[in-house]
This record gives sequence, C-alpha cells and structure tokens, in this order.
Amino acid sequence: MVLVSAKEMIEKAHEGHYAIGAFNINNMEWTKAILAACQQANSPVILQVSEGAAKYMCGFKQCADMVKNIHDHMGITVPVALHLDHGTFEGAKACIEAGFTSVMFDGSHYDFAENLEKSKEIIKLAHSQGVSVECEVGGIGGTEDGVTSNGELADPKECAEIASLGVDFLAAGIGNIHGVYPADWAGLNFERLSEIDAAVNGKPLVLHGGSGIPFDQVHKAITMGVSKINVNTDLQIVFAKATREYIEAGKDQQGKGFDPRKLLKPGADAIVAKVIEMVNQFGSADKA
Ligand code: 13P
Repeated sequence: MVLVSAKEMIEKAHEGHYAIGAFNINNMEWTKAILAACQQANSPVILQVSEGAAKYMCGFKQCADMVKNIHDHMGITVPVALHLDHGTFEGAKACIEAGFTSVMFDGSHYDFAENLEKSKEIIKLAHSQGVSVECEVGGIGGTEDGVTSNGELADPKECAEIASLGVDFLAAGIGNIHGVYPADWAGLNFERLSEIDAAVNGKPLVLHGGSGIPFDQVHKAITMGVSKINVNTDLQIVFAKATREYIEAGKDQQGKGFDPRKLLKPGADAIVAKVIEMVNQFGSADKA
C-alpha cells in the first residue's frame, strides 16, 4: 500500500473521538521503530519531518524515498501519511513536489492577513495534488536559547477564518509548548480550546507539543476536538536514556557491542514501546 494523505485518517479519528499520533522522524532508526510500533498496535500513523530534520537527512526527496522504501520493505499495511512539520511557504511547495502526502504551512509568524493569503495558496496547490494541509494560528510556545516561553492562546476568530479556507486540520495554541514542560506549567487551557472548537465548525484540531502532557489532559482535549497529536521530544528522551544505559553498563565494550546495529537497538526498542503506549492513550490502536 502506498502512503496516504492524512485527511481521511484524521476525519475518522475526529468522528470516532480519538487522535492520530504524528511522530517526528530524525533518521532511518526512528522511521523503522515508529512504523513497527504502529503496525504492531494496528494504528494509523503520521510520520512527520521538520525542515531542520529534512536538512539533516539530506533533503525532502531523500525523506520521501526513505519512508516509502522502508514502508514497502517492512510490508506495512496500516495507513501511513508523510507530513511536513512547521513548513515554510517554499518548504511546503517543495514537499508537495517531493512526494509528501501531507504538509503543514506555518504562517503564524506573519501578520494575520499574510498568513491567510499564503495559507490559501498552499491549500489550493496541495489539494490539487491530493495532499492534506495543516495551518497554524497564533504560534506555539517553546524553548529557544534556553528560555521557555509560556504557551500561547490562539484567537478563535482567526481560527475560524483559516478554517473557512478549507484547511484539513488546524494547529492553534491552547497553552501547549514544544519541548519539556516547565514544572510550573499551567496546563492546557480548556476554556480556549472550547471557544476555538466552537469557532471552527467541526474542523479537526492539532495539539503540538504532545510530549509530557498528562494523559488525563490529552484525553479531555481529544473529547473537545483534538484529532492529531504531535510528538517529538518524548521519543528523543527514551532513545537517549536507553542508549546511555547500554553504554553505562559497558555493553559497547563487550564482544561486538560497538556495532551500530547493536548499539542503537535499545534506543530503537524504547521508541517502539513509547509509541505503542502513546497510540493506546490516543485511542488509535486497532483503528487501522
Ligand atoms: P514535542 O517535541 O514537545 O513533542 O512537540 C512536537 C511538535 O509539536 C512538533 O510540531
């Protein structure tokens, strides 16, 4: 089966009150581990790539080819979409060309009129190729240069305007942030989520910064219209922890423990376990 657009799987999740995990990939190991986990859990999945990660992996075309080849080689049968995460205007166009089946255009740093105009153009182009589109209103906070900003709150009126363009799903800040949540984080703002959900007329919403949010808050957000949850940091943390334990136990110095196929295995296994846990929490297990 070929890669699919994310539209149908997210609409089904929205109707069925569960969410699709959108996991960021960084290399071949991440791709294999996430696909193996979702195949095992019988869950649809979105593999997503940031522009920085795409540069690291030698370009959008390489990402698309790698994901397709690994997907086919592993005989994956659950629905899989390949999505650009936080794309620029040019990046989104390049991904459509390179064979991605879904793109995010993040125009949240432009003034709203320009975000609206550029979102409209990407939606038109993407839909002409059967590619799904995510846009963003208001920005998502996070850690930059060691400083963690507070989660931002999107304006429901702006969300309604972008939703009316025909975007497939919409990212809107509800107090969520990328990276590790600070100890004094206030939690998701359900009042704002409810206002946004009412304003967008049934459009599925995207929760960025899905790592480290207590699952009771995640479950509540899903019942209120969130149908795609982005996860990056959690997989990086479990990979690093398992790899550190392997090295600290001296296993890289036993026999051929330094072989990368052995050295990277505990980290990859930890990603598989974390993804299975998350898709069960998101409710997408057995929904393929
Ligand atoms: P985390 O790294 O906090 O999981 O956020 C991922 C994300 O939202 C990617 O867009």
